[in-house]
Amino acid sequence: RWTTGNIIEDAIARVQTRVGAERVVLGLSGGVDSSVVAALLRHAIGEQLTCVFVDTGLLRLHEGDQVMATFAEHMGVRVIRVDAEERFLRALQGVADPEDKRKIIGRLFVEIFDEEAAKIEDARWLAQGTIYPDVIESAGSKTGKAHVIKSHHNVGGLPETMKLQLVEPLRELFKDEVRQIGLELGLPYEMVYRHPFPGPGLGVRILGEVRKEYADLLRRADAVFIEELYRHDLYDKVSQAFAVFLPVKSVGVMGDGRRYDYVVALRAVETVDFMTARWAHLPYDFLDLVSRRIINEIPGISRVTYDISGKPPATIEWE
Ligand code: XMP
Repeated sequence: RWTTGNIIEDAIARVQTRVGAERVVLGLSGGVDSSVVAALLRHAIGEQLTCVFVDTGLLRLHEGDQVMATFAEHMGVRVIRVDAEERFLRALQGVADPEDKRKIIGRLFVEIFDEEAAKIEDARWLAQGTIYPDVIESAGSKTGKAHVIKSHHNVGGLPETMKLQLVEPLRELFKDEVRQIGLELGLPYEMVYRHPFPGPGLGVRILGEVRKEYADLLRRADAVFIEELYRHDLYDKVSQAFAVFLPVKSVGVMGDGRRYDYVVALRAVETVDFMTARWAHLPYDFLDLVSRRIINEIPGISRVTYDISGKPPATIEWE
C-alpha cells in the first residue's frame, strides 16, 4: 500500500542515491513546498543541505523569525538568512506599476539567491519545491505568476560555473500529499496548512509605490486579521485571506482629535482552484471586531473596508 510513510522513505532513498555525498542548496521561502523539501532533505542528507532564505522585507509579520525558528533552531538545518529589505526597497523606489514591481522583485530575488548560493562551497545541486501541478502548469500556458524561485531558476539564473543540477523530490506529488508528508516530517500544522502567499509578497499588496512605512502598517493589520481568523476557527474555512494597503488618506475622529490616516482593505476568498473565487461571507461581528482592533491598535490606519468582489472579474490580489 502506498502510504505517506512509503512516499517519504522512497523520496529519501532516491535523493540519497542521486546526490550521494555532495552538497545541496535550497531556496527556502517559508511556503509549504520549499519547507517540506527542507524537512525531507534534512532527513535524507543532513548536513549536506544548506538553505538560503532571502528576507525581502515584503514578508508577513515575524515571518523571517518563524522560518529561522522552525528550521534553524528546531530542525538543525543550516539556513543562511539574507536580510535584503533595503535592497528591495531601493529597487522599488518610485515604481508603481504592478508588473514592473513583480519583475523587479523576481529579478532581485534571483540575483540575491545566486550571490548567496555561489558562496556555498562545493555545492553541486539545487533543490526545488516543484510539485506535480507546477510541472503540468509549466508544460502548458505560462501565466508568469508561478513562484519566483521556481520560474526563474529553471531558466538558469545561476552562474554558469556553478552548474548546479536540479533535485526536485516533490515533482510527482500533489499538494495534499506534500502536506501529509510535511506533517509526518514534523512541520507545524500551521505552516503546512498556511494560505498561499505570492512570491512578490507585500510588494503587490501595497498598491502603487512600495514604502517601508506602508509595509510596516500593512504587516500589522494583516497579522490582526489572520490572528482573529485563527481565534474564531475561520482560517481553515477560507482559502486565502489578507490585508491590502491603500495609499490614500481618509478622515477619522478619535477622542477629541481628528485623524487623517491610511486605509486597509481586507480580502478573504473561498475557492478550489484560485481561477475563480467567491468572497468569503465572514460574519459581521467578526469583521467588526477585526476592524476595531486594526483602527485602535495601529496608529496610521483610520479606516478598514472589506472587499466583496468575486473573481472574475476581480482578481484575488489587488495588483
Ligand atoms: P489572482 O490575483 O491572479 O491570484 O486572482 C490567484 C492566486 O495567485 C496568487 N498570485 C501570485 N503568486 N506570484 C505568485 O507566486 C504572483 O505574482 C502572484 N499573483 C497572484 C494569488 O495570491 C492567488 O493565490
